[in-house]
Formats: sequence, C-alpha cells, structure tokens
Amino acid sequence: MPVVLTGEQPNYPNPNILMDKPRLAWAITGSGHYIQECLAFLLTLDAVDLYISPAGEEVLRMYGIDLKDIREKMPVYRDKAASAPPVGHFYKGYYHTFVMAPTTSNTVAKCVLGIADTLVTNLYSQAGKCRVPSIVYPCDIAPEMETTAPGGKVMVYPRKIDLEGTHKLRGFEYTTVVESVDELIHQVNARLAALT
Ligand SMILES: Cc1cc2nc3c(=O)[nH]c(=O)nc-3n(C[C@H](O)[C@H](O)[C@H](O)COP(=O)(O)O)c2cc1C
Repeated sequence: MPVVLTGEQPNYPNPNILMDKPRLAWAITGSGHYIQECLAFLLTLDAVDLYISPAGEEVLRMYGIDLKDIREKMPVYRDKAASAPPVGHFYKGYYHTFVMAPTTSNTVAKCVLGIADTLVTNLYSQAGKCRVPSIVYPCDIAPEMETTAPGGKVMVYPRKIDLEGTHKLRGFEYTTVVESVDELIHQVNARLAALT
C-alpha cells in the first residue's frame, strides 16, 4: 500500500511524495572528487532522494551545478535541522540502500568514530542500525591520486589519518566501500538488480 511521507520535516521540499516501494537514499558531501561523474550517474536513476551537506551545496555550486536542475529530477533534502528528522525513514522501510558519494575525509572520519551529528553522518549511522546496506565512495583511496578540482584535475596526497578512515570504513557492517566511479556504478547497479 502506498505510504505518504508526512510533512513534519522542515527541510522536506516535497512532503507529499507518494511512495509505493522503497527508494534509494543518496548523499553528496563537500567533496569535489569526481562529483560531476557521481552526479551524472545519480541523475540516470529513478526513485532516488538526494541528501546534501551544507559543504556539498557549496561545492556543487563551485563545479557549476545548480541545485534547481537536480530538483527537477528528484527531491533534494538539505541539512536544516539539528536532529536530522529524515533518518526516521530508515525505520519505516522507505529506503532499500544508502549511497554516500563522493564522501569527504571529514564525513568518513566522523562515520568511523560513530559520530552522527549532521544529516549525512546520521543517515549513514541510522542506515547501519536498520541493517540497510550502504555503498560509500570516499575521496581518500590512495597515498597519491588524481582528483577533480573546479578548474580541472590536480594531484592530492591523502594523509595517513585519511587513508586509515577509508580502511576502517571497509570493516563496517552493511558497508561496501568503492574506489572509483566505475566501481560505484557497478555496485549500485548490482544492488538495484538484486532487488528486482
Ligand atoms: C571545491 C572544493 C572541493 C573540495 N573537495 C574535497 C574533497 O575532495 N575531499 C575532502 O575531504 N574535502 C574537500 N573539500 C573540503 C570540504 O568541503 C570540507 O572539509 C567540509 O567541511 C566537508 O563537510 P562535509 O563532510 O559535511 O560535507 C573541498 C572544498 C572545496 C571548496
């Protein structure tokens, strides 16, 4: 039976969305690491809700991406409340999967410490507590790597602490860590195929 998301959440722009089957929750944080490629794939998917950190909003803008264009394709939920009310949806079975891509060092560091004090870190935490699988694309994959800055590609040298964060996340329950956009696409498609 379809369920209606109630409108109590102040950051829900589309509170009356009809849900007849579980959706995908996707979070974008303030990482420019292949953010345009992640978004391009995200925009090909149906039944997705996008969650975005305040830094994610700013960084998207710096890469020339307008939130208004994304909103035409899917609901976009911003971090506007202290208690991250949308996380309650995991408890009601609204989401079959949580994807966090791209993910900053900051958000990974919080997640591996069990900190859930923002919308995005809360989504990861509550997805795990509800045994909903997460697919995470961290920006820190190797000691030397190419990344995408607003002006083009640059080299970045993640620190030991950043790489340790990524490594620890790999050991978390209900979590798949991917290392490239291709792997992200493969894992998300595999998950969607497994659900049909
Ligand atoms: C253009 C731009 C690109 C950025 N890319 C990254 C990145 O790839 N990885 C990262 O850890 N931080 C990156 N940052 C810094 C984060 O946005 C910043 O640490 C922020 O506090 C992260 O907040 P969040 O984890 O809540 O999204 C970038 C900042 C800017 C301005």
